[in-house]
Amino acid sequence: MAVLFSPFTLRDVTFKNRIALSPMSQYRAVDGHANDWHRVHLGRFALGGAGLVYVEATGVEAVGRRTHGDLGLWTDAQIEGLRPIADFISREGSVPGIQLGHAGRKASEHRPWHG
Ligand SMILES: Cc1cc2nc3c(=O)[nH]c(=O)nc-3n(C[C@H](O)[C@H](O)[C@H](O)COP(=O)(O)O)c2cc1C
Repeated sequence: MAVLFSPFTLRDVTFKNRIALSPMSQYRAVDGHANDWHRVHLGRFALGGAGLVYVEATGVEAVGRRTHGDLGLWTDAQIEGLRPIADFISREGSVPGIQLGHAGRKASEHRPWHG
């Protein structure tokens, strides 16, 4: 218990505890842009006290997204949706993280429930 809630420093980043939210694809982005869904989804884990809040797998190019509903970061315009999320998480004392990815041959699928 004591270790779980103790700070952890990695290079120049200090996490207030050892609790990390895994990246979880939400399939709710439109053209790769973050929206209210992502703000609330991720913001609540910062409010809950996680030391590290990971943004879901985020495509580095459009065709590299796992599904069409994934977040992306292949154009500067997509920074605008992510910046307030990172700022909010930081203000609440957590560390924002992001999982950048390219799904390779598994990329560009429909959302799971669309087959
Ligand atoms: C809804 C959902 C979405 C997920 N999306 C991602 C993802 O974007 N990237 C990833 O690496 N893992 C993803 N995972 C896997 C989780 O990050 C995590 O590895 C998995 O839930 C096992 O975690 P645990 O070993 O702590 O139980 C997802 C899991 C769930 C439940």
